[in-house]
Amino acid sequence: MPGRFITFEGIDGAGKSSHLEPLAAWLRARGHEVIVTREPGGTPLAEALRELLLHRPMDAMSEALLVFAARRDHLRQAIEPALAAGRTVLCDRFTDATFAYQGGGRGFDTAILTQLEAWVQQGRQPDLTLWFDLPPATAARRRAAARAADRFEAEDLGFFERVRAGYAQRQQADPGRFEPLDADDTPQAVWSSLVAAMERRGW
Ligand code: TYD
Repeated sequence: MPGRFITFEGIDGAGKSSHLEPLAAWLRARGHEVIVTREPGGTPLAEALRELLLHRPMDAMSEALLVFAARRDHLRQAIEPALAAGRTVLCDRFTDATFAYQGGGRGFDTAILTQLEAWVQQGRQPDLTLWFDLPPATAARRRAAARAADRFEAEDLGFFERVRAGYAQRQQADPGRFEPLDADDTPQAVWSSLVAAMERRGW
């Protein structure tokens, strides 16, 4: 049986990354083989492209082309083989982030992103997308307390409002795939709603 593909999304500071390993452990305890990966990244080439994306100045089209180049390699080398072998793949960000950040945040043409998505993914979509949603001002306060900003994290509240709206549009286009989680809460409360979402699906 092919494995399941689960992605984690949300603006920077939403707290999504801290739930990846706990969900992997939760699934392993239920007998699943799980790999945990991230975008951009997950292969040596894609990790190298990630460094460029996060730290080198470039325009929105270059960002989009870089993330899809990284995604192509990641799908071919890691995600597709794992799914074919029946493993569950937990991925920290995927194409919804491109629509949210490059499309929403930067205002890049989403029709071009849709074309790139079709070319690169050949129909592959996540089975479930956990969307950690919270107000950008709350996320900004968390980030300020936690870490030095990269090119995206240094953007202003207006940028993150547009990113959030980009996620909302993707959810409206494919509501069955998305599980919105209220991330403006304690880690324990967010975890409980995540587990409830898995159990609702019978996973
Ligand atoms: P992130 O996943 O938040 O990792 P960390 O927790 O280490 O900061 O960082 C990745 C950044 O890349 C994030 O700011 C969003 C951005 N990004 C895009 O702009 N487009 C994309 O398609 C992806 C996958 C990420």
